[in-house]
Amino acid sequence: MKNNNKIIAANWKMNGSEELMKEFSQLTRSKHNDIIICPPFTLLDSAKTLLPNFIKIGAQNCSEEEKGAFTGEISASMLQEKSVSHVLIGHSERRRLFQETDDLIFKKVEAAIKSKLTPIVCIGETLSEKEANKTLQVLDSQITGSLAKIEPNKQVIVAYEPVWAIGTGLTPDENEIKETHLYIKTKLNQHFNTDIPILYGGSANSENCSQIISIDNVGGLLVGGASLKKHDFNAICNC
Ligand code: 13P
Repeated sequence: MKNNNKIIAANWKMNGSEELMKEFSQLTRSKHNDIIICPPFTLLDSAKTLLPNFIKIGAQNCSEEEKGAFTGEISASMLQEKSVSHVLIGHSERRRLFQETDDLIFKKVEAAIKSKLTPIVCIGETLSEKEANKTLQVLDSQITGSLAKIEPNKQVIVAYEPVWAIGTGLTPDENEIKETHLYIKTKLNQHFNTDIPILYGGSANSENCSQIISIDNVGGLLVGGASLKKHDFNAICNC
């Protein structure tokens, strides 16, 4: 069955505190959007205790390994024990700063699915790739590299985040979002037999959220900076 709810996901990155989580306990929901908050690992317990029940909890990364001598890593099954239902995988910051490749991202997606987490797989082109007219080519190779070997009946979420739009206040125009989301949708439909929501991320805020979310094939938003302000995020959740 097709789910028409929009997904609003918050990526707190390496930000937030117990204090902020307490503030977010007052979030309200007037529309039937699905809300996911991905705090840093250290706040997962408080997220479970403090956030209202309608909010799902996500993590920002997981290991591709199940367990063992991998100092500092956290496995998908450990997250599952913490009531986590979703996990961001392959965020552009992880691709760029931590050298994550599509092959590694594929392994993390597999590990997440094995532990019954829904992966939110991030893809998107850099500014120089956009300027070289390579956007669709980049998306194609990221989708192929990270998702083509996943069984077609699995549930995943894809987040399209143009790297140049992250934290810059810039967003693609409506036609660009339409074009990229249609391209991603078509490509995913060739492989998956489930409906894969495609979120948009990159400078989404309380002012542009309604417009972006109404564009064809935009299944929701992945929000960074604006997800750290209760008032703004509440408005986005209700857009
Ligand atoms: P901003 O909303 O701050 O641009 O960040 C987007 C992002 O990276 C979400 O994963």
